[in-house]
Amino acid sequence: MAARLSFLVVLALLAVLTAKADFDDQFEVIGDRDHIGYKDDGNGGQEFSLELDQESGSGFKSKNKYLFGEFSVRMKLVDGNSAGTVTSFYLTSGESSTHDEIDIEFMGNSSGQPYVMNTNVWASGDGKKEHQFYLWFDPSADFHTYKITWNPKNIIFEVDNVAVRTFKNYDDLPFPTSRPMEVHATLWDGSYWATQHGNVKIHWRHEPFVVSYRAYHANGCVHSKNSSRCPDGSDAWMHRELGDEELDTVAWTERNCLSYNYCADGWRFPKGFPGECGRK
Ligand SMILES: *[C@@H]1O[C@H](CO)[C@@H](O)[C@H](O)[C@H]1NC(C)=O
Ligand SMILES: *[C@@H]1O[C@H](CO)[C@@H](O)[C@H](O)[C@H]1NC(C)=O
Repeated sequence: MAARLSFLVVLALLAVLTAKADFDDQFEVIGDRDHIGYKDDGNGGQEFSLELDQESGSGFKSKNKYLFGEFSVRMKLVDGNSAGTVTSFYLTSGESSTHDEIDIEFMGNSSGQPYVMNTNVWASGDGKKEHQFYLWFDPSADFHTYKITWNPKNIIFEVDNVAVRTFKNYDDLPFPTSRPMEVHATLWDGSYWATQHGNVKIHWRHEPFVVSYRAYHANGCVHSKNSSRCPDGSDAWMHRELGDEELDTVAWTERNCLSYNYCADGWRFPKGFPGECGRK
């Protein structure tokens, strides 16, 4: 009995070590390593969790840099009172003032109030292109799949394989096409802006806040030493644009779920909307 028990303990420990080794192969830690958890997801895959407390937030970023690709992850967000927390899954080329970025961010809320999913695109340091959504489910109750497809024609945001937004490349307008990007996932305190315009702050008595990530997939052209290598089968996403049916789901989410659209915020753009707002 004792032998069997210790055998199980060893197995459990091995699973954690495997998950951690797998994590270290792919990612670098952002923030405090003690705030990251590793385990078996029960389906032969790995689960990584991020913790946020008064000491620190946490995150991870891909060791690879990509120039175009398809990136997805399953996430279960902070439950209960998540006000002030921001959970992210995004691509970024770095910190410079001319950086590119493609964002999915979840802004927490008081118990029972809806999360907001923010999507944004930055090209050459030009951002301010947010579409924000209420989801049609509670993203803290279970794992759901969030996906970014980035190719030279457009950027597609999907939730559980439902396209919710497409951001097109109009050749004369800003679009990320040349700066390789890393994939980042983070959990942090965004109290100053995240929830109800910063009016509701994080409640530390609910710490630690935890978000879990499963089934991370980065299927992109890996960039190093000025050249890019695309994996077999990359044609499937490299030329992908939305068909009529998918454009219908985008229109459906715009009608039913959109909580903010930069192209409708005249107050923010007194000198006229960004160029893409008026285009088909
Ligand atoms: C939080 O809940 C309030 C009230 O329902 C809502 O107006 C707001 O959009 C929600 N989300 C955030 C991130 O503030
Ligand atoms: C990469 O390209 C840049 C600009 O084209 C050049 O300045 C740099 O020397 C190149 N680096 C390598 C390692 O080839």
